[in-house]
Amino acid sequence: MYPNVSHDESARFNFLAQMNRHLSTQVMPFIGKAYEARIEPERIKTEGKPFASRHEVRKALAKDPIWQWWSALRRATMESRQQAGRWVVLRQADELNTKAADLTNSDPRLLLDSKLPLPRGVEAIDHHCMPGSYHTELVEGDITGPANYDIGLFATTGGMLGLYNDGGGKAVAEWVRKNLGEDFKPKRILDIGCGLGHNVLPLAEAFPEAEVIGIDVGAPMLRYGLARAKSMGIENVKFIQGDAADLSSFDDESFDWVQSTMFLHETSYKTMPHIFSESFRVLKNDGIVLHVEQPQYDSSMSLFEQAMRDWDAFYNNEPFWTKMHEVDLDDWMIRAGFKQDELIHGGVAAIVDKDVFPDAADDDSEDFGRKAAWHVVGARKSA
Ligand SMILES: C[S@@+](CC[C@H](N)C(=O)[O-])C[C@H]1O[C@@H](n2cnc3c(N)ncnc32)[C@H](O)[C@@H]1O
Repeated sequence: MYPNVSHDESARFNFLAQMNRHLSTQVMPFIGKAYEARIEPERIKTEGKPFASRHEVRKALAKDPIWQWWSALRRATMESRQQAGRWVVLRQADELNTKAADLTNSDPRLLLDSKLPLPRGVEAIDHHCMPGSYHTELVEGDITGPANYDIGLFATTGGMLGLYNDGGGKAVAEWVRKNLGEDFKPKRILDIGCGLGHNVLPLAEAFPEAEVIGIDVGAPMLRYGLARAKSMGIENVKFIQGDAADLSSFDDESFDWVQSTMFLHETSYKTMPHIFSESFRVLKNDGIVLHVEQPQYDSSMSLFEQAMRDWDAFYNNEPFWTKMHEVDLDDWMIRAGFKQDELIHGGVAAIVDKDVFPDAADDDSEDFGRKAAWHVVGARKSA
């Protein structure tokens, strides 16, 4: 299902991937140095006290030339990545749309609901500068949005997610095997906010006996997702259009595992409690819920790091990022119905294809947000 890419188009993506890595490994470290050498001392000199919040740090950083330079280039690289991706997919839109239709039309594993109201938090935002976000169809049956998402993700992450951008899902499957053991044999897995399934297919592959269902509000993502899964030979997966905040089409206690990967930061503060309580409701006893996200801002994280991580919220069209990362997820899980001693905490790092991206595989530099390593916050319901 993957779009065709010419020599020049792939050179453009390679440049953008390297530009991102250059910015995070060669330029960003100087922001930390500037913060220590002039930004923090200047604050203490003028105000007589240290910064009190990440927002104060961010506003001070934004006045510094090194930060302005890095931030402008990072934003420009993201805009160029979107432009490069759209250039590739729009010139072959008819072929791509026809291919996806041929692979998915009348396949019962794709269930779309054209009447589903789109959450305003999806409809009103071009997430990470992506024109039309996850839901827009330029023509009926259009999948150029997800094809663009698929093709350019390696540029934004500098190859850190692996050949099929599925390093996160592979790491989650491995984490579950290691931490829950061979006795954990899920029969039904629900992935909420599944997107085009990058991190769903590794679960379907790791648990071939399971029925894996991905839900998302964006019809194009699901259509491309099933077409992509089939073209990769993965059959035990269904893509259903639905809102994670209202899982009423699923029975109580009907899943062994509810998964979300890099999803919560794109949901609003108002929606999150519904997502948590619905995930609890549809989970069987002895089942697990896992949310995989960038780390929360807690007292163990410096205000400088919090401000750097907040870049996406203010300069990359991720408006829910900042609030989502400050909430106490444990508390939200408990309010949804889990008990304290049922909570799970862990961490996963993407499994990168060493043969394809050798330097990305060995890159352990920190760039406060792009690094392919996440926290796992979840729970196992008592048996
Ligand atoms: C950043 S993408 C993550 C996709 C996927 N989990 C992955 O790991 O690649 C977020 C996805 O969440 C979807 N989404 C946002 N709000 C949603 C909601 N309330 N219910 C279902 N999907 C939602 C978007 O359409 C988008 O595809």
